[in-house]
Parts: sequence; structure tokens; C-alpha cells
Amino acid sequence: MGAMGVEYESMGESSDKYPFLDLESDISTRIRHIAGIPNATVILTPTPKGVEGDYGVPVVNVAKQAGLNPTELSGKLADELKNSKNSWIESITLEGPYLNFRLDANTYGQKVINQILEMGANYGHENIGHDDKVAIDMSSPNIAKRMSIAHLRSTIIGDSIANILMATGFEVVKDNHIGDWGTQFGKLIVAIKRWGNEDEIANSSDPVGVLQDLYVKFHDEMDKEKAFQRSEFETQAKEGGAESVPGLSDAIEQISQTIMKRKKIARKELDQEKILQDALDKISESELEKEGREWFLKLENGDQEARRLWKLCIDLSMKEFEQIYDFLGVKFDVVLGESFYEDKLQDAVKEVKESGAGKTSDGALIVDLEDKNLGVAMIMKSDGASLYMTRDIATALYREKEMKAKKAIYVVGEDQKLYFQQLFEILRRMGHPIGAESAHVYFGMVSLPEGKKMSTRKGLVILLKDVIEEGIKRARVILKEKNPDLYKSEKLRNEVVRQITVGAMKWNDLSQDPKKPIVFDWDKALNFEGNSAPYVQYQAVRANKLLKDAGISKEDLENPESKDAPRVYQSEAEHQLVIALAEFPKVLTEAQANYTPSRIANYAFDLAKKFSAFYEKVSVLKADNKSDMLARLRLAAATLQVITNSLALLGIEVPEVM
Ligand code: ARG
Repeated sequence: MGAMGVEYESMGESSDKYPFLDLESDISTRIRHIAGIPNATVILTPTPKGVEGDYGVPVVNVAKQAGLNPTELSGKLADELKNSKNSWIESITLEGPYLNFRLDANTYGQKVINQILEMGANYGHENIGHDDKVAIDMSSPNIAKRMSIAHLRSTIIGDSIANILMATGFEVVKDNHIGDWGTQFGKLIVAIKRWGNEDEIANSSDPVGVLQDLYVKFHDEMDKEKAFQRSEFETQAKEGGAESVPGLSDAIEQISQTIMKRKKIARKELDQEKILQDALDKISESELEKEGREWFLKLENGDQEARRLWKLCIDLSMKEFEQIYDFLGVKFDVVLGESFYEDKLQDAVKEVKESGAGKTSDGALIVDLEDKNLGVAMIMKSDGASLYMTRDIATALYREKEMKAKKAIYVVGEDQKLYFQQLFEILRRMGHPIGAESAHVYFGMVSLPEGKKMSTRKGLVILLKDVIEEGIKRARVILKEKNPDLYKSEKLRNEVVRQITVGAMKWNDLSQDPKKPIVFDWDKALNFEGNSAPYVQYQAVRANKLLKDAGISKEDLENPESKDAPRVYQSEAEHQLVIALAEFPKVLTEAQANYTPSRIANYAFDLAKKFSAFYEKVSVLKADNKSDMLARLRLAAATLQVITNSLALLGIEVPEVM
């Protein structure tokens, strides 16, 4: 129990190690006791604007459950709190059923600050996960395509969620599920062979861009060939009848049969013209398409040339992706691309069949999810080819069986929402717990202010490299103006510029609700005054500088004399800072429960603002006496620690200087 829990120790409340959580559970215990409801809990809420105090206790629901008058319940609680000795509560304001209270920044503050300085980087951590293993499916760009801003978001958000889960007692496997398999690789190989030059590609400044362009060209050419072929066939059919076009009659018959069966109609009810058009589509395969299919088959069968070219694409792409990961400081535990599951697909397909989840339709294996409004998912095409879904099923089974993961968290764009609902439902039907446990943490589109969408398909992608370069350029300009001395030392400057740019970039993704589409705006991201990483970083740097200028050692800050210094935190700025510092463990728990790094970012911004107010209003180095100075330095040291811990969860570093 916390400092005030003396009377209720026997009630079996587990001991929370953080003062704020102690306070919350202590008040819950009291309310349970007064209301006679054994498992009631209350969550402390910030007091409404204009009301005196730090927290309010919402009792209305509990009172209702207990059949009590809320005003009476609050009154009784207030009496108890007033009478308890050793309380952190400084004052209570009762307004009808509303009980608000203010904490004593000194007793409560000393406890909180001691704890922060003792626990350091571990302050706020908690064992919620009990070492349960979680796979984080993150980043996952596609080979031979530039990494898009969506993949960047997945990398940043996934990394932060991984940090949050690790800090809350989960065992995390960060898994980069690279898109390195599928029929598109057959097409790419054809494109390289026809129009590419391997040396030129490898030596280009943008090899992945070149590969992507080759792929786009393949599609353009294929569409052209196909349209040409189709119109040839159409003319031929109109002049000489369907029989004069090879394969057309068969295609017409096949399509007719399918429609008659599906719609349960007679042959004479068929729309002949529509069927002719569909049949023409079906048979008008371009030479390119055929070649692409053949090369993919070769790739699947281990043909040396096919494997070599495929591997070349992987190497060139990974080299570029790794530059981005290095820049961001993001590491993975495993990089198991889709191709890793190639030899596990047959088993997965077999299991889908044998579990009864799937059924055969026109030679293909499907899972009908119409009853859940999730459409029909294709697991294997009639020609035996696997799909993205097949590989994801195999991946989930592997994670469950081999990695021993309890769940997987997929950090992937919103456009795949239905897809992941299908995947989870299929796994559930197959009887795998990982299906029900897993989550799709999605995010919306990112656009640049000009309103361009990020789509890799048509080569519209805005190069991530450009974004990074632009960021560095801007950070440099700002730094030059803010700290000309620092600007002179090139090595330090480059390091700080990188920390600021990466911070700004990550903050942009992590501080907002990822479900909403966002606009990426460097002016906002690098605004030192506003809601930005540099602003928060800067407050930490200020706290650090204060400690350095005071020439104080870590031991001095832990000096028991200073720990118990009497009534030192008298200003509102100090009070607010203490209250905020104590809330960090709770914020982390909430971020874990909802997979919301934005909870941490918003908290860090708020804390930084409170520190700034403290810094500007309260004398630290010029305090009246040594003990006041020490107490305030302790507050600064604790704030530096908590900002550092918050930013670390977001994958953002605190620079030495700024
Ligand atoms: N490579 C995919 C894409 O770019 C994302 C993969 C997400 N992860 C997964 N297990 N499906 O769209």
C-alpha cells in the first residue's frame, strides 16, 4: 500500500510500486470499503479547468451500483482521506458529488523524484507481459521497389511499439517481413533481361529506382501488347467466328458454364456479348506475360539464372533499405522475407483444407468469409500458385509454432484492413490461437503538403531519400542560427543534426493519431517552439545544461540530506512538474494497452512544456540557499530522466547539446 494505506493493508490490495498507481489503488480500496462493492475501481481524472486541485475522483458510477447517494459517498471518502495520517493529499475540495484534491508536492514529490533517480532508465517500466512473446511485423518493404513513406511509418511506429512492449515485460521479436516473393519477380526478371543492363543497374546511384522503372515498363508494354492482341482477336472473331481464334471457343464455353452454375440460369439467358468480351480478355495474353510466368516458374524450381537475378534484386534493395534503417537507428531481430516461407506453403495449404476452413471452387482453394462480411479469401489459385495470403498464413503458423509467439502485431497501412481481418478469421477457423490474439495496427495515408499520394505502383513515390535530405538541410539552417558555436564543430554538429532530423521525422509519425491521414510538413516538424521533437529534445538539453553548470554529481543529487529537504517545491511550476513526472508509469501502461506511441509523445510534449515553465520562472542556480538549489536540481534531473525515457520509447535520442 502507499503512504496512506495504513488502515486498509489487510484488504489485500497488491502493492504498486509507483506513487501515482499507489494513490489510485489506495483510493479505490477506500471506495470499495465505503460502498461495499468488492471490485469497484476508480480512475483518477485531471480536475476540470477552473477547479482547484490535481485530480478528481469520479464516484457516480460506483455510487449507482451501490445504491448510494454520490454526494454522501464523496463526503465519506473526503472524511477518511482527511483523517488518514501520512497522506500525500494536501487539500480536498468537495462540490456536491465531485471530490477534487491537491497533492503535496513535497512529500509526494520527494517520493516520486527519489524513485526516478534510483530507477533511472527503468523508471516507468512494469511487467505486464510476463515474458509473453510477441512478433512485431514491421517495415516490410518490397524488393525492387523504393521504400515508401508507408513503409517508413511502419518502421517507426513498429519500432516504438516494440520499445513500449519491451518496457512492459513482453519478449519482442521485431520481424521485417520483406516482400521478396511472388509472380512479380518473374516479370521483373523478364524486364531486366529485355531492357536492363545489370552493370548499369548495379552502378546506378538509384538501383532500386531503376528496377522499379523496369517493372513499370513491363506493365506498360504488357498492357499495350495485350490490347493489340485483343483487338486482333476481336476482329478475327467478328469476321471468321469464334472458332477461327485459337482457344476462344473453349474460353467462351468455360465462362458460360461457370455463370450458369453460379447464377443457376439456362444457356439461353446468358449475355453472349459480355461473355465474348470476357473470353477475349482471358485469352489475350501478351507474350511478355507468358514469359513472366515462365520465369517465375523457373525461379520456383530453383533455376540458377532466375535465382541469380532475383538475388541481385534483393541485394541491391536491401543495401538501400539498410541505409535508411541505419539512419533511423532501427534494428530487427529477424528479417524473414516472404520467400522464407516458400517451403512451408504446401503444409499451410494442406492445413487450410484439412481444418475444414477452406473449400475448393473452380479448382482454387478459397475460404468463404461472407457470413462475417469479410468476402471470400483466395488461398491457392487453380494453377496451384500461392498468394500473399498463403504466405501470411504460413508466416503466422511459423510464428506460433517455431517462434512460440503468443501474438503478432502487424504494423501495416489502412488499405490492408480487410485483408488482415480475413487473415485473423482464417487462422481462427483453423483453430490457431494466434489468430484471435493478433492485431493490425494500421495507419492512414501520408501526403506531402502538395497533396501527392504515396503510391509505389505507378512510380509516383516521393523518394524517402529526398525527405531525409530535406530534413537535414533544414535542421542545419536552424542549428546554425540557434547555436553558432556548436555549428563550428563539424563532428558534433553532424551528430546533432542527425538526432534532430530523425527525431522530427519520428515525431511526425508518432505524435498524431496514426489512423488519421497526415500531411508531412517540415516547417511543422522542425518547429523548435511548437509540438515537435526538437522542442522536447531542447528542454532535455536545457535540463542537462543546468546540471552541468551546477557542477553537481549524481551522488550529490542522491544525497539523503537533499532527499528529505523540507517544503521546497512551493511554486505552481514545480508542483505541476512533480504531478506530471509521477504519471509516466500510467502513461506507459496506456500506450501498451492500446498500442499508441502517441500517448507517450503527447505526454513528453506536455512534460517538456512544464519544464520550460519551471526553467523560466524558478531560480535554480541562483536559489536562495544550497538546499533549495539541490532540490530544484533534483527536479531537473528527474525531468531529464523522464523525457529521456519517453523519447527512448519513441526511438528518439536526446542530444548532448543543441
Ligand atoms: N510488403 C507488404 C506491402 O508493402 C507489407 C507486408 C506486411 N506484412 C504482412 N505480414 N503482410 O504492402
